[in-house]
Amino acid sequence: MTFVDAPAKARRTPGVIPLHGPEGFAGMRKAGALTAQALDILTDFVEPGVPTAKIDQIAYEFARDNGAVPATIFYKGYRHSLCTSINHVVCHGIPDERPLREGDIVNIDLTLVVDGWHGDSSRMYSVGEISRKAERLIEVTYAGLEAGIAMARPGQTTGDIGAAIQAVAEGERMSVVRDFVGHGLGRLFHDEPNIMHFGTPGMGVPLKPGMIFTIEPMINLGRPHVKILSDGWTAVTRDRTLSSQCEHSIGITETGCEIFTLSPAGLFNPMAAKAA
Ligand code: MF3
Ligand code: CO
Ligand code: CO
Repeated sequence: MTFVDAPAKARRTPGVIPLHGPEGFAGMRKAGALTAQALDILTDFVEPGVPTAKIDQIAYEFARDNGAVPATIFYKGYRHSLCTSINHVVCHGIPDERPLREGDIVNIDLTLVVDGWHGDSSRMYSVGEISRKAERLIEVTYAGLEAGIAMARPGQTTGDIGAAIQAVAEGERMSVVRDFVGHGLGRLFHDEPNIMHFGTPGMGVPLKPGMIFTIEPMINLGRPHVKILSDGWTAVTRDRTLSSQCEHSIGITETGCEIFTLSPAGLFNPMAAKAA
């Protein structure tokens, strides 16, 4: 594995990790903030009876009105502004006309491109009252992301991040999905390195100032295995147990990390927001 100063015209190269300077951090700050603001605004629309296509439309219009483009439109044939992953859907759920129902938990994953920089974030939303076990799953997912972020500093490795998340999930007898990983990003939507949400302390890639990537653990109440539905996108748990995910885009600094996708309204963690 090698590190290079992030080039202006980037192309993903296996094993080559771009290191970003102040320009990249400034770009990510703007894109991350707009993405977080959009996810905040969507909170009010996550209600029983609302079709996920409506939420997709709100995000599309927000992007359009704010000089941003959703990265997922036309991405590998995907046609929507965001992903909506309900209950046992692990990730990449496609917005459609089916109404949300009381008790559903839904992950909304949005990536807005601003001035060429990608702000990628997802959170959990609850539809009305949800079960205690769904609440616990969401709490553990957020605790996992936080534990991962706490490892994100120079001197640590990608394995330290994964191991921290895995310890939180498995400590609560939940499981970490193996089939999807966090990823470098910047001018590219998906770049090096891969960030696994499980692993061994000290293994993987050493973290260096200038690295920009997502951490986006998917945690299941049951077993970790997933399958992809015939639409080619929707990933579900094989055992149909509930799944939850949350995602931040971060950049490694000299002393720790900067989170680009913090919620301006403090709505990132729905359980903390509810308790407040
Ligand atoms: N935003 C997702 C991620 O966290 C990628 C979604 S790709 C899509 O990397 F095409 F399914 F939308
Ligand atoms: Co995402
Ligand atoms: Co991502």
